[in-house]
Amino acid sequence: MAVTKKLFGKTADGREVTAFTLTGSEGAYVTILDLGGTIQTLKVPAADGTLTDVVLGYDDVAGYEQNDGYFGALIGRYGNRIANSRFTLNGVEYPLYANDKHNHLHGGKEGFDKKIWAAEVEGDSLVLSCVSPDMEEGYPGTLTVTVIYTFNEKNELAIDYRAVSDKDTILNLTNHAYFNLSGEGSGTTVEDQELMIAAEAYTAVDEYGLTVEQVIPVEGTPFDFRTMKPIGRDIAMDDVQLKNGGGYDHNFVLGESDELRRVVVAHSPRTGIYMGVCTTQPGVQLYTGNMTGDRLGKSGHAYGKRTGFCLETQHYPNSMACPSFPSVVLKAGEAYEEVTVYGFSCEK
Ligand code: BGC
Repeated sequence: MAVTKKLFGKTADGREVTAFTLTGSEGAYVTILDLGGTIQTLKVPAADGTLTDVVLGYDDVAGYEQNDGYFGALIGRYGNRIANSRFTLNGVEYPLYANDKHNHLHGGKEGFDKKIWAAEVEGDSLVLSCVSPDMEEGYPGTLTVTVIYTFNEKNELAIDYRAVSDKDTILNLTNHAYFNLSGEGSGTTVEDQELMIAAEAYTAVDEYGLTVEQVIPVEGTPFDFRTMKPIGRDIAMDDVQLKNGGGYDHNFVLGESDELRRVVVAHSPRTGIYMGVCTTQPGVQLYTGNMTGDRLGKSGHAYGKRTGFCLETQHYPNSMACPSFPSVVLKAGEAYEEVTVYGFSCEK
């Protein structure tokens, strides 16, 4: 594995953004920016051997500064929505910034996607870290976060999330990569790409896309991905949950586990690329790019609705308002650790 580093560009206020590229001996590589810890490019071989970029992104800093879709970025402190932009912990109510109608989304105004992370190369890994000050974006506790990206010769990209806080707080870290296994520049939507999600149930959303405390079995619904099927097969069905999400934009229930287990398989029939997702997390958000606009992506390719899908491994959105969901409380001094691995091959 070779690791290289170069200047990617500068932010509007003059800060340097560095790109780190981890390249395997067969030429597959991932490029990660210190800005937002963003996965900017991920090139893996298709069945015919062509290296194919499977993530949406931009080729300059300005693209990421205007990025309204969180392309490839780390999300924190709390992935997805928090109802009415507030939560109560240890009897104290913490108001948050409302950036999605009346709700709080993906960490607020200046989430972890906007930070320039400290970056160190350690062997085959890129170690990103940041300190989020007490009450940043309204969240209690000085939070020290480390995210380790490791790419290996098997074309597996591991993301290791670690954190510790000096006060009780809540935390839900994830990555917001948009995948298109036919290639980000293919000009195709992801609707013909197939997906298997090992989930018996998912959590409902209201008309604002806010997760509510209702767990729905997937059986007999368009949300049944237990057997592989094209993403688009049932997406236009007459279903109130699909209407609320504008397509799939829901948390799938994986159950609690300390083990890294495979929970998702995705496949492009065009390139033959498979992606497997393993995680320790109890949920995964399938977001089918229902809101992705027609902005120009890398190399001048226009994106558009459903040109990428996200598989955001996570704790459930809005958990503080839903007491039956797995806990998102991180106690003072306690170690937070979650791992997600995205693996690529041309075999199932
Ligand atoms: C959310 C979507 C939101 C998107 C923003 C996803 O994680 O689930 O509702 O529109 O992020 O890019």
